[in-house]
Amino acid sequence: MKPKPQIIADRAGPHAWNGTSVRSRFFDALSLLLPAGEQFLIDTLQSWRAASEPPADSELSREVDRFIREEQAHRRAHANYNAALVAALPSVQAVAERAGRIADDLTGFGMPMKLALVAAFEHLTAVLAQEIEAHRFFIAEENTRAGRLWKWHAREELGHRHVAVLVARHAGLGRGVLTLALLLATGYLAGDLLRYTFALCRCDVRAGTRRWALLADTARFAFGAIPSLMRMTRHWFALLLSPSRCTH
Ligand SMILES: [Fe+2]
Ligand SMILES: [Fe+2]
Repeated sequence: MKPKPQIIADRAGPHAWNGTSVRSRFFDALSLLLPAGEQFLIDTLQSWRAASEPPADSELSREVDRFIREEQAHRRAHANYNAALVAALPSVQAVAERAGRIADDLTGFGMPMKLALVAAFEHLTAVLAQEIEAHRFFIAEENTRAGRLWKWHAREELGHRHVAVLVARHAGLGRGVLTLALLLATGYLAGDLLRYTFALCRCDVRAGTRRWALLADTARFAFGAIPSLMRMTRHWFALLLSPSRCTH
């Protein structure tokens, strides 16, 4: 006998496209952050190329064009995804508006630090994309609409992960600024992801999801993520130990 829909909602939450509530909301939170974050990457590379001296060679310029095209497509796809989140639960609107301003703090940096941050954020997304491609833990439901979007995004991130590192090399960025940027970017992304996942879970609680079910789900997700986090930590160091290895 099939379980009643209400039981499924209590156990997994009303919007659990990815197996469980917290795992779904973790990726929903990342999606809310992406349009503003990816616009920062696009704006930075466009300004760098306009002012770059000596000009980027044509091969690098073509790669930057492809990078910008792909990030623009990701922005559009995640804007639609985020609109669907709000349509499903209108209280998410305020969270989405806050998320749209997350890159405001980064605009005050000078161009070398912005380029280093682009390389750092791209490295972080490639580390997550690699984990999504190689293992089933983060995207448990690959055949949902959202699951397919995340798999597509992960493949494109892996396909263009070398571009930001090539730009950083062309701009002559040293290991010091890249290290600082990676630490900053990791702090920003981890902090924002946790805050926005929590904010979305609060919306679910207000909409009727039981708090104890979310807490149990959070514990399961955190415990289950340990092997993934250990693998990702190993890859995280690659940018610091050998930036050139991140171009392959
Ligand atoms: Fe992207
Ligand atoms: Fe990217």
